[in-house]
Amino acid sequence: MINIAVLCSGNGSNFQALAESINKGYIKNAKIAVMVTDIPGCFARERAKKLGIDTLIAERKNFKTKKDFEKYIIDELKKKDIGLVVLAGYMRMLGQEFVKEYRNKILNIHPALLPSFKGTQGIKDALDYAVKVTGPTVHFVNAEMDQGPIIIQEAIEIEDTDTEGTLAPRIHEIEHRIYPKAVKLFVDGKLKISGRKVIVKDE
Ligand code: GAR
Repeated sequence: MINIAVLCSGNGSNFQALAESINKGYIKNAKIAVMVTDIPGCFARERAKKLGIDTLIAERKNFKTKKDFEKYIIDELKKKDIGLVVLAGYMRMLGQEFVKEYRNKILNIHPALLPSFKGTQGIKDALDYAVKVTGPTVHFVNAEMDQGPIIIQEAIEIEDTDTEGTLAPRIHEIEHRIYPKAVKLFVDGKLKISGRKVIVKDE
């Protein structure tokens, strides 16, 4: 059984998709032990309440340094014997200690085809650049922003008439499918990292 910590800063729809995948038995041998948020008023917290999942609030402003802030989170995760950290709309860069502590055990989802459009506005940036295809990326997290080894990507076409309002729901729909898939592969021990490459063993 792997205990998962999901880190959220906002809506938490990927968190919910993951929780439902576990509840439905699509992902076996895993449990979301805690949802960690840096934003006390975020909607992910409401979702956690409804799902019956414990929440840990860690606000950056309550700590002197980023190191102290992350040490608090790491200590709490250790208490819960966390074996996988899932970033789901967590809008902070993880520090080196965090990444080191959970080396190759942290996943992130990004709403653009990395390495394009890194950062916090992947959907808008793809539209502004007027690329013809875009789509979400699930990847392992390393110390560089949106840079770790890629697990799954799925491309969709951008239509001439697309706006953020029409494109974002299509991206999120894919996210809610591929993120649970990537977590399942991790939990089932099917992901092997070889340099930058993630090899999926006998899927
Ligand atoms: C998702 O679209 C995710 O790809 C994006 O934030 C959204 C969170 O939605 N993440 C990033 O942009 C990370 N750089 P959610 O809170 O509803 O899961």
